[in-house]
Amino acid sequence: MKIVIARSGGFCWGVKRAVNMAIEATKEKGIVYSLGELIHNPQEIKRLENLGIKKINSVDEIIPETTVIIRSHGVPPKTIKALKEKNVKIIDATCPFVKAIQDKAVSLEKEHFPVCILGNSKHPEVIGIAGHVRDPFILETKEDVEKIPEMPKLGVVCQTTLNSEFLSLATSILVHKIKEIKIYNTICKATKVRQEEARKLAQEVDLMIIIGGKNSSNTTKLYLISKKVNKNSYHIESADEIKEEWFDNIKSVGITAGASTPQWIIEEVVGRVETISKRGQAVERGFCKTT
Ligand code: F3S
Repeated sequence: MKIVIARSGGFCWGVKRAVNMAIEATKEKGIVYSLGELIHNPQEIKRLENLGIKKINSVDEIIPETTVIIRSHGVPPKTIKALKEKNVKIIDATCPFVKAIQDKAVSLEKEHFPVCILGNSKHPEVIGIAGHVRDPFILETKEDVEKIPEMPKLGVVCQTTLNSEFLSLATSILVHKIKEIKIYNTICKATKVRQEEARKLAQEVDLMIIIGGKNSSNTTKLYLISKKVNKNSYHIESADEIKEEWFDNIKSVGITAGASTPQWIIEEVVGRVETISKRGQAVERGFCKTT
């Protein structure tokens, strides 16, 4: 059996940076509090907890004069203000690509363009961007886009992990409703490459495994992209969810992972697939050639 691993799978640059910043801070401070989960991966969160990175759910839970890390998703300015009032040391691990979107939203507003964010309204990154401007439109579905009234101006930015197909769809609808529209494609390149590779890989193999937290929006999107072209697609968080019966009559397996999936979990999954497949046939392991 052939196992093909996507080169783009696993930690993206921004997540790797945030995790490293948090680990470095624990060396000096002992305990570092993360406002919300540092990354959307329960297994990695457990490992980080053991290193001293503790999750807190809201600013109210913060003990004054401790150290708090802002995760790669960023936060609204009001959160920074509240943290400063608590007199905590802030480590800002907002991904620079997310920061750039926050800045774009602010400058659109300054140019008198109502701001529209394409993305998931409940996702912390979108909440963070939305907090930088007044009453932005947040569009998540085709229906949301269709409901936008006709207006003279609109400035559009995207959640970094938006599905590029949704951006195309939303653009094709909005250009007919808005006289002057500025659209910034702010989908992160890491996301774009990962999604394209997952799509191509899913077309080439008999079975796809997508690894990542069930609460990870970018992993869920990868799974949906894969499932669309390959019905044998499975979204798992860890190797022990893999079932032997998935591999009956399967000659090739593709493996990819979301941006918050650490390498050690990917290795465990590849190892488990190798163990299962070795029972029947020789295993060939390689990397995807599609990127
Ligand atoms: Fe940043 Fe892109 Fe990752 S925006 S957090 S590098 S997916």
